[in-house]
Amino acid sequence: MNFDGKTVLVTGGSSGIGERCAERFAALGATVIVNSARSVEAGEAVAARIGGLYLQADVSDKAAVEVMIAAAVERTGRLDVVINNAGATEVIPHDDLDAVTDEVWHRIIDTNLTGTWYVTRAAVPHLRESDNGCVINVTSLAGVRVLGSSIPYAVSKAGINHLTRLLARALGPDVRVNAVAPGLVDTPWTSDWNEIREYVRATVPARRSATPDDIAEACLFLAHSTLVTGDILMVDGGHHLL
Ligand SMILES: NC(=O)c1ccc[n+]([C@@H]2O[C@H](COP(=O)([O-])OP(=O)(O)OC[C@H]3O[C@@H](n4cnc5c(N)ncnc54)[C@H](OP(=O)(O)O)[C@@H]3O)[C@@H](O)[C@H]2O)c1
Repeated sequence: MNFDGKTVLVTGGSSGIGERCAERFAALGATVIVNSARSVEAGEAVAARIGGLYLQADVSDKAAVEVMIAAAVERTGRLDVVINNAGATEVIPHDDLDAVTDEVWHRIIDTNLTGTWYVTRAAVPHLRESDNGCVINVTSLAGVRVLGSSIPYAVSKAGINHLTRLLARALGPDVRVNAVAPGLVDTPWTSDWNEIREYVRATVPARRSATPDDIAEACLFLAHSTLVTGDILMVDGGHHLL
């Protein structure tokens, strides 16, 4: 696998899954653009370590996204792979409807679903110029099964899964669109989710949670493939089978 001469944008690349994706693509020759909204120093540090570029933008801000995509193309001359990984949630029991305030609902949907839409729409004209342009959406088991950290989170991820299939059909043969749907991944996001981690260790077929590297591996495969499109690749150790 070789990504020499390719430009890869990783939203939410300052931490966790996005950070590992940035490292793995850069190690295989890609010029990687690391994005985040708030953790600017951490994002800049990742970009510096891997010889990439850092671009700050809140993916839920349409104007900021358009500036980011234009800057990515201006500075590297192209765009080949977009990994829509930036995400937000709150841990809210599903039966506590009042805890999902309008602010919480809109922040989660706007970041996860609308952000994926904004980034993809702005990137597509450039991805069409690539010989294997592709979008990889980091969704979740929560978008497939009736579970997850909160209802707006699960709804946003289910929405992205369907968006993935719709766009794969609409954009072929120029651009492939796929999703990676992790179960529990050990990242800063889930550092105190020990009860769920124990449940996963005890019950899922693989008997372990994922590392960020497990998810990055799946992204590398999807970017390298030339025929896979419209797929939701479950990377959850078989959790969806329970
Ligand atoms: N960890 C899991 O168990 C798990 C399971 C399934 C799916 N996922 C998905 O995997 C993705 C990455 O999660 P992670 O576990 O690696 O979390 P993480 O370590 O907390 O990283 C989240 C990243 O998203 C960025 N981000 C958040 N809001 C943003 C916005 N509006 N604009 C741009 N960047 C934004 C964060 O940067 P700033 O907030 O500092 O800007 C950070 O770089 C998410 O989409 C999540 O839903 C995670």
